Order: sequence, then C-alpha cells, then structure tokens
Amino acid sequence: MGDISKQPGHLQPAPESFLTEAEVQAIAAGRRSFLRKSFLAAGAAMVAPMAARATEAGDPEILNLPTWSTTLGKPVATNPYGIPSQYESQLLRRESPGLTRVGGASVSFCPLQGLFGIITPSGLHFERHHQGWQDVDPARHRLMINGSDPAFLKSPKVYTMDQLMRLPSVSRIHFIECGANTGLEWGNVAVPTVQYTHGMLSCSEFTGVPLKLLLEDCGVDYKKARYVLAEGADGSSMTRTIPMEMVENGEVFVAYGMNGEMLRPENGYPLRLVVPGVQGVSWVKWLRRIEVGDKPYATKDEAVHYIDLLPSGLHRQYTSVQECKSVITTPSGGQRLLEKGFYNVSGLAWSGRGRIKQVDVSFDGGINWKTARIEGPVQNKALTRFNINWVWDGKPAILQSRAIDETGYVQPSYGQLREVRGTKSIYHNNAIQSWKIVESGEVSNVQVL
Ligand code: MTE
Repeated sequence: MGDISKQPGHLQPAPESFLTEAEVQAIAAGRRSFLRKSFLAAGAAMVAPMAARATEAGDPEILNLPTWSTTLGKPVATNPYGIPSQYESQLLRRESPGLTRVGGASVSFCPLQGLFGIITPSGLHFERHHQGWQDVDPARHRLMINGSDPAFLKSPKVYTMDQLMRLPSVSRIHFIECGANTGLEWGNVAVPTVQYTHGMLSCSEFTGVPLKLLLEDCGVDYKKARYVLAEGADGSSMTRTIPMEMVENGEVFVAYGMNGEMLRPENGYPLRLVVPGVQGVSWVKWLRRIEVGDKPYATKDEAVHYIDLLPSGLHRQYTSVQECKSVITTPSGGQRLLEKGFYNVSGLAWSGRGRIKQVDVSFDGGINWKTARIEGPVQNKALTRFNINWVWDGKPAILQSRAIDETGYVQPSYGQLREVRGTKSIYHNNAIQSWKIVESGEVSNVQVL
C-alpha cells in the first residue's frame, strides 16, 4: 500500500492546541484503524478509486521484499501473555488533561476512536477509582451476605472465592458506563476527542454467579428485604443501594470473569458486582459484602454524589438506569479526513433499558436522517455497533447519531435534554453528539441544540 500517510482517503490528526503530543499519537492510532475499516467495508467499486494503482505507483513495498519476508520469525512464547503490536502502542486508556487527580480518585478513558465491534479489550477498559486500585489476594478475599435485620435473611454466610466459583455460573455481554460520562458537555465544554467525551464506557463478557442464587442460599425473605447494599473492599467505602427487583429478575450477578479470564485488578479482581443497564458506580468492585434491607441506604455515593440538580432546585436521587445513547466513533473529534470520497462512518449505541432497535445518522446537523446498519446480534444492555456508508463531497458537514431502544425511547438533542434537566448536572448526559467537519477535513466537537 506504500506510505500509509500518502494514501488518499485516510484520517490524520488535526492540529488541535488542546492536545499533547502523546494524544496526537493516540489519534493517529485511531487513524490507522479507520483506514483498515473503510477498505474492508467498501465494495470493490468503491475501493478502486481509493487505492493506488500498483502498476503506476511502482510501490517499493510491493517491488522489494521486506525483512519480515526474508528473515526467521520469532519463536512462540516470546510473549507468553500476548500484547498488541508495537505499531498500536499509542492506543491506550488516558487520563484527561482537563480533570485533576485527587489522591486515589482518578479516571482513565477508553480510546473508543480506535476500537472495532462491541467488546472492549480488557487492557483498554476504562477505569474509575474513588481511592486507587488494589491487587486483592483471591485466597484471602471473602464475600459476606447478611441482613440489616435477622428477619430479612435467615442464614448470613461468608463465601470464599473457591466456593463461589463452584456455583452455577452465567456469562453475559453488558456495557458499563459511568454516570459522569459526557459530564463536561453539560457546561458546553467542547472536549476535543471521543475518548474524553464518551470514554467512560466499555463493554465486556462478564462471568459469575447470579446474586439471586446467593441470596436464596442464605434464605432471603423477598417480602421483607426489598433493597440490597453492595460494599467494596477498597479504601473508598464504596457502597450502593440496588432495588431488589433487579436482583429478583436474575440480571444482577457477582462476576469474577471478564472476557474469558479473571477480572483485571483495576476492574475489581477478584469479584465485582454487575448491574446491567445501571450506571457504573453501582458495579461495586472488590465486592466484599452484600446486605439486604427494607429501604434505600442513602449512602454518601447516592446522597451527595451521582445525583442530578434539576432546574427546580431539587435533586434527583437514585437515577441509576443509563438512558439510550449513541456516538459516532470514526470519524470523531481530533481526526481529519484528507480527501473527499467514501467513508464508513461507525459508532456505538446502547440503552440501560434493553436492546437497541434503530440508529439514525445525520450528515447535516439533524436536518435529514438515514438509518444506519446495525451489526448484530443485538444484545440486551450491551454496546451495539452501527455503520453507514458516506461519500464526503468536501463541504462542511455535521455528523450526528440518534439511537432508539426497544422501549421506543429516542435519544434527545441537547435542547430537549436541557429543557427537562437544565444545565447544572454532572451526571446522566445522553444527548446527541455532533462532530463538525470543515473543508480542510478537520473534525471537532460542537453542540447542536
Ligand atoms: N467500586 C469500588 N469498590 N470503588 C470504586 O472506586 N468506582 C465505581 C464503580 N465501582 C468504584 C467501584 C465507579 S464510579 C465506576 S464508573 C465503576 O466502578 C468503574 O468501573 P471500572 O473501573 O471497572 O471501569
């Protein structure tokens, strides 16, 4: 293919003063991904004008054999635990330069611009710690289940990891999104890249034991115990209330597995709670205790944090379900289209209320909409990949995606969201994201009301 930067139709990082050198490199990693994807997705007729004609080009990469074709390859087990190619080393989760780290309280964002499909590689899963992460010894880790009153649960128990891992397990694909994802955009702060606007989002296959099974093993009385309190073993005293209906329907589980292996320490090894469709803070990591009770617990992480200040001056509490949302990941902020022509526009959609039914894409800031292709099978409360063909005519454009879930809920515009929620929130922003493309091909973050 020749020097990749000389190929037409690819993305280059835009000169964006907000970005550090490292971030520009990260975007470049996304650029390579974009190239591959568009070549694969395009039909032969579309590819032909984009690819250099080998006979004309006399491409040295075709004419001369590269060293990897003329030397011995590396033996197996050079990397006993596989790692990405050195050429992909800039695709990393990153802390935002706009957010300060306070003690162990930190967040790293997932590089959505460089990912394919719906599964987040475990090493790129976003991280949000209220007090840093711990590498907990599984042999010493315990899960205790008790009741705030003996009448709620007959036999409180303490489980070891070995005991938990002998029980009937489930494996399910679910998204996890921090309630604060896209939070800076409430204040109309145009965060430059999709990694920082939407990167507190990931999706994995989790494996573990339904909480319902454990509570029943301990003799729960569902008539009396209507809430569950989940507690983590880290220094943040992370505790969250979960309504018992979510447990009774079998969806909530205690997970030890993620993408076919044990959880990573940053994501709660050896045990975390999976609460499908609910904001990330309820997915308590390093899970050590479940208590059942008869009312919500109003802990610090649900009375002071993760609440929504409404225009009326009242706070909305226990907003846990993540409403339907979507975002175009390529092309996205900080990237640049070099030439007019064919592009595969790709993105992600998700809903805390079930499956995605439809995703529409607009190329003119919401005036006209076209239905995107949904890559199935579409899973319950999981990320859903969508793609749509686009021929860029070189003129300014505003790209948007709008998701609709199986309940019929339609993702709102910023205008619609602010009408109900005002502008003072931090959490639960599911508005339509807009990426503006100018004649130079630069893509930037703008808000369309
Ligand atoms: N659990 C504990 N024990 N401590 C934490 O700091 N952070 C919560 C939640 N569970 C947290 C926790 C928050 S705010 C989020 S968004 C998710 O974990 C993030 O999960 P991740 O780091 O695996 O992406």
